[in-house]
Amino acid sequence: MKKVTIIGVGNLGKSILSGLAASDIIDASDITAVDKSKYNLKEVEEKLNISISQDIITSIKGVKWIILCVQPRQLDLVLEEIKDKLTSDQILISTVTGTSIAEINEVVPDNKVVRVMPNTGASKKLSMTCIAANEDVKEELKFVEEMFDTIGRTLIIEERLMQAATVLGASGIAFFLRFLRAMIQGGIQMGFHPHEAQIIAVQTAIGAATLVAKNGTHPEREIDKVTTPQGCTIEGLNEMEHQGLSSSVIKGVMASYEKINTIK
Ligand SMILES: NC(=O)c1ccc[n+]([C@@H]2O[C@H](COP(=O)([O-])OP(=O)(O)OC[C@H]3O[C@@H](n4cnc5c(N)ncnc54)[C@H](OP(=O)(O)O)[C@@H]3O)[C@@H](O)[C@H]2O)c1
Repeated sequence: MKKVTIIGVGNLGKSILSGLAASDIIDASDITAVDKSKYNLKEVEEKLNISISQDIITSIKGVKWIILCVQPRQLDLVLEEIKDKLTSDQILISTVTGTSIAEINEVVPDNKVVRVMPNTGASKKLSMTCIAANEDVKEELKFVEEMFDTIGRTLIIEERLMQAATVLGASGIAFFLRFLRAMIQGGIQMGFHPHEAQIIAVQTAIGAATLVAKNGTHPEREIDKVTTPQGCTIEGLNEMEHQGLSSSVIKGVMASYEKINTIK
């Protein structure tokens, strides 16, 4: 039984759907997308050839995997709506930030729950998805891992690290993109047209990340390879550090982490 229903087809839901629908482990015809917005649903139906519905109750019937992809403040309503309709063999996969497995199980005590924290790289099969579950969820965890492997890379973590995973992996997309934007702005100031600066900065970012990913090296090792003594790279790097680059990134990450711990 591999049927999947995803509740909430917003930014993340669309990204997960486009990865899953193109994967080998689930047929697009076994996927149903549920959302309040007809516009969101039409978009995924046309692009991905999956079933769509605005009715949660009918769309979870006979489905093994239910992916919850709504905002934290919307989760309670969704759980209240489905709790009496669920059968105990159905597995809930929650992408929702800041709501623990125990909190979900307070409302739906008979269902196994897996928490996942993907990112919007999912739409290009480049998500980083952290996954956490309780000890009793072993077999199911394997399939959830397989499911999210189809949209990028996965890592099983302890649930206590889920907030940190959200900051580093999900908000991390925004953090890296802000750095990318700054590089593009620097490129424009040196004389490139914006689209040229973007091509150069994006490809360089892909190259830099791929070097670390494929070589398994620490970033500083790859930095050393392009840093000639007394050259222009070290001049730029040191100026960035004098201006507080590493410190402001770490402080930003920690501010985000402090904030996430207050969100419910
Ligand atoms: N965006 C990310 O990169 C990211 C990464 C990791 C985790 N997350 C988590 O993933 C969850 C979804 O985030 P998102 O950015 O995709 O949010 P989003 O863009 O707001 O999408 C949520 C969607 O769910 C719909 N919805 C809400 N209540 C519903 C209901 N009762 N029945 C059917 N549809 C309903 C919303 O419709 P309306 O707009 O009409 O309410 C909206 O289209 C959040 O909990 C977030 O913390 C997000």
